[in-house]
Amino acid sequence: MHQLRRNRRLRTTESIRSLVREHTITPNDFLVPLFVVEGKNVKQEIASMPGYYRYSLDLLKIEVNELWTMGLKAVLLFVKVPDDLKDNKGTEALNPDGLMQRAIKTVKDVAPEMLVMTDVALDPYSSYGHDGIVEDGYIVNDPTCEVLAEMSLSHAQAGADFVAPSDMMDGRIMAIRELLEEENYKNTGIMSYSAKYASAFYGPFRDALDSAPGFGDKKTYQMDFANRDEAVKETLMDIEEGADIVMVKPGLAYLDIVRDVRDAVDVPVAVYQVSGEYAMLKAAAEKGWLDHDAIMMEQIIAFKRAGAHIIASYFAKDVVKLL
Ligand code: PBG
Repeated sequence: MHQLRRNRRLRTTESIRSLVREHTITPNDFLVPLFVVEGKNVKQEIASMPGYYRYSLDLLKIEVNELWTMGLKAVLLFVKVPDDLKDNKGTEALNPDGLMQRAIKTVKDVAPEMLVMTDVALDPYSSYGHDGIVEDGYIVNDPTCEVLAEMSLSHAQAGADFVAPSDMMDGRIMAIRELLEEENYKNTGIMSYSAKYASAFYGPFRDALDSAPGFGDKKTYQMDFANRDEAVKETLMDIEEGADIVMVKPGLAYLDIVRDVRDAVDVPVAVYQVSGEYAMLKAAAEKGWLDHDAIMMEQIIAFKRAGAHIIASYFAKDVVKLL
């Protein structure tokens, strides 16, 4: 008997494998998260994220230049806010001369065509470390949406191309879109963290920004990780409210959600490979237990295979160096 179909024929050499490969990675796939701090000449390694740093604005310039030269053309900005500027309402988030606003201008100064996205949520500004305003121990929804809209406007005024609300309040996309339209920022985009789960994978990020919740957890606004169908509901609502790009977060443990969302929507889908995912691989590689580069590439391809168009990743530079 002869076998008529032999799947291994398409795997015999690298040339045929690359010819039939379904997914590839290019620098265009990435959004690079950047952590910014006050000060001069500061490049601090984040303890739980080896090889990843917080930059003061002067050194941010050098980093942004390097990214641009490597073909990495989109950044996602986060700021570490000094403790004495934190309060319950995130007042500092609206300061036109605040760290985020200056960071946006700094990036645009060095690389005018770099796409600048900004994190919109109160946690780095909140004395409680929560994404919204706290009243009687509860994170109140509608007043938070108003601040998030003001914050988004302030980022747009400073020159941000996209705002990226990561807070999971109900109706915040609508609040942000309406204010941006009203104020004539019609081309400022919104990348919504539309399916964001309450996850322990964010631990190292909260070290990076000193933004861990001071009481309780984020389970009254971020999603329950036992839920799947709800991710599609959340995402479709954000699109109705005006989101241009939607996002699933975290990444690797949520590839089922990435695929569900991709199949359900007609806008670009982003995935966030979060800080804990980065830390896990770095730790295992440090111990010599896993091959860092091989695992990194396998994970990045997994996001594309699952259906993501855009990958926010702390590995972006490492990956591009290997391409
Ligand atoms: C802020 C925010 C968080 C992350 C992105 N934006 C933390 C959180 O929600 O607690 C996590 C990113 C990461 O872990 O890499 N709302």
